[in-house]
Amino acid sequence: MPLIIDKAQEADIPKLLDIMYTAFADDPWDRIMFPQIPPPDRRGLTLAQWRDEVSVDPHTAFMKVVDTDLNESIAFARWHIYRTERPESEWKRAEAKGWDEGTNVEAANEFYYKIHEKREKVMGGKPHCCLNMLATHPYHQRRGAGRMLLRWGTDVADEAKTFPCYLEATPVGQHLYQSAGFEHVETLDMDLSKWGGEGIYYHYVMVRPAKGI
Ligand SMILES: CC(C)(COP(=O)(O)OP(=O)(O)OC[C@H]1O[C@@H](n2cnc3c(N)ncnc32)[C@H](O)[C@@H]1OP(=O)(O)O)[C@@H](O)C(=O)NCCC(=O)NCCS
Repeated sequence: MPLIIDKAQEADIPKLLDIMYTAFADDPWDRIMFPQIPPPDRRGLTLAQWRDEVSVDPHTAFMKVVDTDLNESIAFARWHIYRTERPESEWKRAEAKGWDEGTNVEAANEFYYKIHEKREKVMGGKPHCCLNMLATHPYHQRRGAGRMLLRWGTDVADEAKTFPCYLEATPVGQHLYQSAGFEHVETLDMDLSKWGGEGIYYHYVMVRPAKGI
């Protein structure tokens, strides 16, 4: 079952959302933000945002891995490639984003506030590659798709020579990123008990230094 990597198109977005929600189905923090996986007819805002990014956002690349026997996407990455220094007006978080119906808005806003706080602190306006999302459908995990998608972005950074790469890792993804040269620089913690869960859920802010410096 050969796997190929390709740029995703607008028409791929509904499938990529399916992959994301399925891949994160067991993630304790995702279940707090999205108590029920949104059915396709309640994904309108995210769908519109991602379609917009695919078609007009020059900084965003959605890459997909396709199983050519199944002729089906099985994994994807959402990379932001910032090739030049950006002014503060571009990278400073301006306002809370909208959420699809059924989202725990308070939890989601708190999480994304912390995500942006880390991004602003660690990278700010510097040129870099940011891995915003990586997900492989559970049936197809451990076949190398995640590594292919990660490699796509780190190759962009290595060709440019001066770009670091940045991401916030779930505990499941952390080992993969470490093995690709990412280093743990900060921790983002969410208190699950505040939302009826137990314990603290950690995301690991990781940076892969630029190769050419
Ligand atoms: C993290 C994830 C994207 C990896 O995708 P994948 O296609 O399975 O990755 P690969 O097959 O390229 O595996 C690469 C490495 O990831 C690690 N890995 C993959 N699946 C894993 C799992 N379920 N648990 C722990 N480590 C895992 C392994 O170290 C693997 O290396 P190995 O081949 O030496 O075992 C996938 O597990 C996933 O979608 N998880 C749920 C969503 C998530 O947490 N995404 C990361 C967001 S930061």
